[in-house]
Amino acid sequence: MSTSPAKMSLTGIKPTGEPHLGNYIGAIKPALKLAEEYEAMYFIADYHALITVRDPQLLRHYTRSVAASWIAAGLDPDRVVFYRQSDIPEIFELTWILSCMTGKGLMNRAHAYKAARDRNQEAGKADLDAGINMGLYNYPVLMAVDILIMSTDVVPVGRDQMQHVEIAADIAGSFNHVYGDNFKFKVPQAIVPEAETGHTLPGVDGRKMSKSYDNTIPLFCSESQLKKLVRRIPTDSTPVEEPKDADSSNVFQILERFAPAETAAETRRRLQAGGMGWGELKNQLFDVLNTQLSPLRERYNALMAPDSELDALLTAGAEKARKRAVPVLDQVRKAIGIK
Ligand code: ADP
Ligand code: TRP
Repeated sequence: MSTSPAKMSLTGIKPTGEPHLGNYIGAIKPALKLAEEYEAMYFIADYHALITVRDPQLLRHYTRSVAASWIAAGLDPDRVVFYRQSDIPEIFELTWILSCMTGKGLMNRAHAYKAARDRNQEAGKADLDAGINMGLYNYPVLMAVDILIMSTDVVPVGRDQMQHVEIAADIAGSFNHVYGDNFKFKVPQAIVPEAETGHTLPGVDGRKMSKSYDNTIPLFCSESQLKKLVRRIPTDSTPVEEPKDADSSNVFQILERFAPAETAAETRRRLQAGGMGWGELKNQLFDVLNTQLSPLRERYNALMAPDSELDALLTAGAEKARKRAVPVLDQVRKAIGIK
């Protein structure tokens, strides 16, 4: 009996900053888990980042930092396909082809573009397209191509990205409708990984940890920086001996996501009983984080060294990815009459 080949899952990661603890819990860990169930591909969407990152050194740094972080966090480049979007020239050729088959109206309705126009409206600007580049506008076509060129079955995304996967399915449908006798794209499906349904991790100011709030704990900051940032998480002035509510404490919320379940349960009990102060809780959080992250940080730092194997790993990944992309583009070119 033959078994059907594993389904393909594709994860795209935009290198717009150094990964933080929230990204690790909410995105990196759940995405890496998918490799147990799917044939998995992961890529650094560096040309997507160009929409906002305009400093060449920074773009290079974020791209390496994100790649190194995922490998340090457990991505095994021998078992999955891991590459940089910009290393796959076929993506850009297909982007033009599919742009010609994408309704402008579909792009007008895309969330990221609409949100940018709404911001202009709120700011009272006369031109609602002010400051919006064509990269932002065309973004969903590029993302559709990332997905379609790899014949992806499922795309794990946060809720904010679901519309983009639906657009990719729409674009595939339009192409298949016209050229389906000669070539059909696989129509992708969005899946929302489990962690999305859980709570988001708070940052050092108590709001959601996010690059846009500048309140993050970078995943691989130094030990001393980690200690400093943990100390900065706000707590109230309840005295040491008083009982404390674990669930309303941001420090505890982070601890709960990183510590073994029994450790978190014990700390919860001690907080509720009174006698455990916020200072002690912060020390515990630092220890838990540092113990878990130290070996990963070492691997991250080794990969970030200028002469590390990181670039060779990405180049080898791109070769594997192009083996999937080249035949797809080839069939598309034939189907549309370019070849
Ligand atoms: P940021 O808000 O820092 O810009 P992104 O929007 O780039 O982060 O998020 C990338 C991924 O990380 C998304 O899948 C998102 O759900 C996840 N993520 C970001 N911040 C958090 C958080 N505080 N808690 C849990 N998951 C998060
Ligand atoms: N748009 C995604 C984000 O902002 C990143 C991304 C680009 C992506 N291309 C993709 C995700 C293809 C999944 C599949 O996070």
